[in-house]
Amino acid sequence: MQGMELVRHRRSVRTFDGRELTKEDAEKIMGFALSMENPYGIQIEWKLLSLREDGLTVPVIVEADTYIAGKVKRQEHAEEAFGYAFEKLFLYAESMGLGTTMIAGTMDRTAFEKAMQLESDEVMPCVSPLGYPAQKMSLRETMMRKGVKADSRLDRKELFFDGSFDRPLPESSPCSELLEMVRWAPSAVNKQPWRVVVIGTTAHFYEAKTKGYVDATGWDLQKVDMGIALYHYAYGLDEKVRLKIEDPGIRVPEGCQYIASIERL
Ligand SMILES: Cc1cc2nc3c(=O)[nH]c(=O)nc-3n(C[C@H](O)[C@H](O)[C@H](O)COP(=O)(O)O)c2cc1C
Repeated sequence: MQGMELVRHRRSVRTFDGRELTKEDAEKIMGFALSMENPYGIQIEWKLLSLREDGLTVPVIVEADTYIAGKVKRQEHAEEAFGYAFEKLFLYAESMGLGTTMIAGTMDRTAFEKAMQLESDEVMPCVSPLGYPAQKMSLRETMMRKGVKADSRLDRKELFFDGSFDRPLPESSPCSELLEMVRWAPSAVNKQPWRVVVIGTTAHFYEAKTKGYVDATGWDLQKVDMGIALYHYAYGLDEKVRLKIEDPGIRVPEGCQYIASIERL
């Protein structure tokens, strides 16, 4: 599986079948994680953790022992770089038949940060279980998915624009299919903050902010979502793209912030 099929097949998996992650799969995932780059050139440190051995708790996840977590030095664009890289890892895991869920809130953060030996100038944005999906979702997982409408996404007319924010991108646009990959990206509480304005061969990404996602230190969880969206777009083009931070200076709706642009090569 690859491309759109892989993107549509991925979902957050919260119920696992209880099998230990094989040594082979663990090595494959870590090998991939260590080889990963992100267009921001920001270094991220990845580590596999064990729920039992590291004393972790994640109430929303059933029957998974292995977790992967990443940490990064606090700096500008750390959120986007992290989201980009973690989603790259998620789609790779999906291609191996492994289940994942990006978790930023519903875990014992203190225990995870201790296991990651987090320093005061670092942040551990999200963690994920790694394992083999169970045949049947737990009742809690089913309820959670309903609660955030996890199986649906905003209409493309609300997300994608042609040259300016007052012109929705026509369905006949050559980048419609590519943007469909962005539309199906995962986001915190399924808020889908990404908005994209296409001008020529460049897609300009904006964050439509939801209240309550920026903490006291200025860390913006929805920028992790933005990094995920940027990766989905780049993935659709086999990463034959250039990411640049050059605000095109068009008029932007209130509450929207320019993030980055991706040019096709
Ligand atoms: C940055 C980020 C943080 C998330 N945090 C949590 C979390 O704390 N707990 C949880 O159960 N799911 C979490 N999720 C998963 C989202 O709820 C999920 O991606 C969204 O509802 C869409 O569903 P899907 O991934 O199955 O397509 C998070 C996702 C992202 C991208």
